Amino acid sequence: MTVTFALGALILSVLMGTISYLTTRHFLVGERETTSINLAFKNAAQVQEDIVLHQQNKTKPIKTTIVSALSTADSGTATAHSLLRYGGAWYVATLSYDENALPPSLLRALGTDAATTQTFVNATGAQIAVGVQIHPIHAVYVEVFTISDLAHTLRVLLLALVSAGLVTTVFGAALGRWASGRSLSPLTGVSRVAVAIAGGELGTRLAAAPADPDLAALTTSFNRMVDQLQERIEREARFTSDVSHELRSPLTTLAASLEVLEHQSAELAPSSRRALELLAADVRRFQRMVGDLLEISRSDTGSADVSLEEVRPGELVRRAIAAARRSLPDPGAEPAIWVDPELERVRLSVDKRRFERVMTNLMENAAHYGGGATSVRVDRGPASGDGGGTGAGTSVRISVEDRGPGVPEVERARVFERFYRGHAAFQRGAGTGTGLGLALVAEHVRLHGGRVWADEAEGGGARFTIELPGHVADEDEDATAPMARWP
Ligand SMILES: Nc1ncnc2c1ncn2[C@@H]1O[C@H](COP(=O)(O)OP(=O)(O)OP(=O)(O)O)[C@@H](O)[C@H]1O
Ligand SMILES: [Mg+2]
Repeated sequence: MTVTFALGALILSVLMGTISYLTTRHFLVGERETTSINLAFKNAAQVQEDIVLHQQNKTKPIKTTIVSALSTADSGTATAHSLLRYGGAWYVATLSYDENALPPSLLRALGTDAATTQTFVNATGAQIAVGVQIHPIHAVYVEVFTISDLAHTLRVLLLALVSAGLVTTVFGAALGRWASGRSLSPLTGVSRVAVAIAGGELGTRLAAAPADPDLAALTTSFNRMVDQLQERIEREARFTSDVSHELRSPLTTLAASLEVLEHQSAELAPSSRRALELLAADVRRFQRMVGDLLEISRSDTGSADVSLEEVRPGELVRRAIAAARRSLPDPGAEPAIWVDPELERVRLSVDKRRFERVMTNLMENAAHYGGGATSVRVDRGPASGDGGGTGAGTSVRISVEDRGPGVPEVERARVFERFYRGHAAFQRGAGTGTGLGLALVAEHVRLHGGRVWADEAEGGGARFTIELPGHVADEDEDATAPMARWP
């Protein structure tokens, strides 16, 4: 739009400027030509009269008469030069301006035409020459008028027109920019709201704009679309939540009955015992999946209860890892835990139950796909705007590493999707996981206002990093108070 406006202004000003310049030049030059012709004819008549008088009296030489007549003609205008060809010779009033200063085309025209006018430029500047044939005495009278003042006027006019054209173009560009900004501003609002909705803020709507009917229609249909989208998303989330809820009770009964049967498995035939083991493993897997689904759908419907507590990052991670290892069937070697000493005064606001679930899932994955977690680092992350408490906002990064094959680059974003199982899962044999573990991790971390990502550990292997917002505790806070309780 800016370019179009600027181009439009440029084309218009070039057009207007050219027309104005040509018209003015035509008018001014035409007027000067008329004046020059009139003057030249008048002077030619005077010169003719002087020569005729001389032919009758012959008191002084012809040259004296002609030069004096030409000088009289020149004195009429300060910027004129008169020349006369008489009897095959040229006569001039001032020696500095003779017939050699005239353009050859004018001299040629003088031989044939009765009268001729020519505009030309020589060393003295722009000139108009008027040539008149004086037939009775077989002479040619030429008078040259300097028009450098006219040329100067036209140069000034050209400069003014070019400047005006440039100013108009710049003004056109500015106008285009303003107009495009003004006409696009409603779309800026739409895009801001669309980004907010895509970011999960489903309650965001466009403000009504009653002044502009086109905009009002757009606003209404956009908001209606978001209403329907929100309703649909909430309905789907409620459905998943309801289904998981309904499945939970029969599954609990099934698991309890299986436990009873497992107690008596010694009395069963080997084939029935094997069948019972398979059934029990699948029911437990099913139960876990339903539990995970219920947890995810709760945060989808916005009914997740988060009970935040102030904790020290190092202590939190150590305790969560110990708890995670207790819940793993085969915990393996304990990972090396390193906590940045700088984090001594940093506090996190976390839901301990959810955080333990996050660490359990990461440790479980490390055990499953990477031969067990080898190290857990707790570092200070970049400063965050919202610390969620008193003191300066900061962030804490907790990374869990293993020495396994790692997560392929193409899978690093997708592993956090629901039901996504990667390459590693199938190498180990299908049937163990459901692909909800990392989705749940991402959901829990999101509820804390943090983020999680996967990359490659130094020396190969997978590294999962969680970044949680934290804050620096006040000076007077008791820095040695231990964590009150652990769920
Ligand atoms: N430490 C790891 N090393 C390599 N790949 C991993 C690691 N952790 C996760 N992955 C990949 O990410 C995928 C998704 O993990 P996620 O925990 O979400 O699901 P899962 O382990 O397959 O099932 P579950 O729901 O039982 O945890 C896995 O299938 C695996 O391919
Ligand atoms: Mg997993």
